[in-house]
Amino acid sequence: MKVSYKSKDNYIVVIGSNSGIGIALVKQLLETGAIVIGADIQEKSKVPFNENYLYYKVNPLDYNSVTSLVDFVKEKTNKIVGLINLSGAITHFKSIEEISIEEWNHTYDISFKSCFNSCKAFLPLLKSTPNSAIVNMSSGLAFIGQKNYGPYTAGKASVIAFSKTLAAEVAPEIRVNTVAPGAVDTNFIYKEDGSTRFNKEQYEKIVPLGSIGTPEEISSVILFLLSDGATHMTGQCLHVNGGAGMH
Ligand SMILES: NC(=O)c1ccc[n+]([C@@H]2O[C@H](COP(=O)([O-])OP(=O)(O)OC[C@H]3O[C@@H](n4cnc5c(N)ncnc54)[C@H](O)[C@@H]3O)[C@@H](O)[C@H]2O)c1
Repeated sequence: MKVSYKSKDNYIVVIGSNSGIGIALVKQLLETGAIVIGADIQEKSKVPFNENYLYYKVNPLDYNSVTSLVDFVKEKTNKIVGLINLSGAITHFKSIEEISIEEWNHTYDISFKSCFNSCKAFLPLLKSTPNSAIVNMSSGLAFIGQKNYGPYTAGKASVIAFSKTLAAEVAPEIRVNTVAPGAVDTNFIYKEDGSTRFNKEQYEKIVPLGSIGTPEEISSVILFLLSDGATHMTGQCLHVNGGAGMH
């Protein structure tokens, strides 16, 4: 079977479209002929507009803001074939003992509640479209214990558990899968002073494939999960990490 991604004239919504991985994904989707509606917390899109690309400012942590995005999409179409949720950030890097409840909730909500809100709000549109698919972004960190990453790893582990439940509930109409990357070269891994959150050289030495990932190496796997090569996959988590973790 030849794997293809026939998205010509199909609408796809990418939440977190201004992320490093999101920008790579939007570009790859546009190359397939899809009509992409990008959405993110920033005022302006980082991807230039064209006739197949629209952008909407959304706060994915606020359910009402996400339903406004749904209304915006409904003005264009009643059917979307794909929804991708990419929001995630570590806003507070502290131990569980040190972190405040508000700080914990903030990072946890960016990493998980954003995904819950958008999946819930977009279910009716996705259900009414044959062969639609959701891809949610988790992280390899959800599978290992690492100091100071508590609310982020809990949020990303929630994304996986939630996606499995959703996959069972919305089958066979909608497929739901997650991607769990290892380290990827985006803003996410850099601190404000430009240094990385971890020792990149040391990390690359232990990665069997020899390097951290590029945004395109992650977005291409998302594209696969949306494609007709993945029509028998739902409730799965794909690890994309150069072999850094073998699951
Ligand atoms: N880069 C990595 O090493 C890596 C590894 C595993 C998983 N991920 C995940 O991949 C996804 C994309 O990240 P990226 O690597 O492209 O990094 P990025 O920093 O470029 O993107 C982060 C995304 O989260 C959104 N975001 C940040 N703070 C927010 C807030 N307060 N409210 C709403 N949205 C907010 C940003 O707008 C952006 O869309 C994230 O979910 C991230 O957790 C990244």
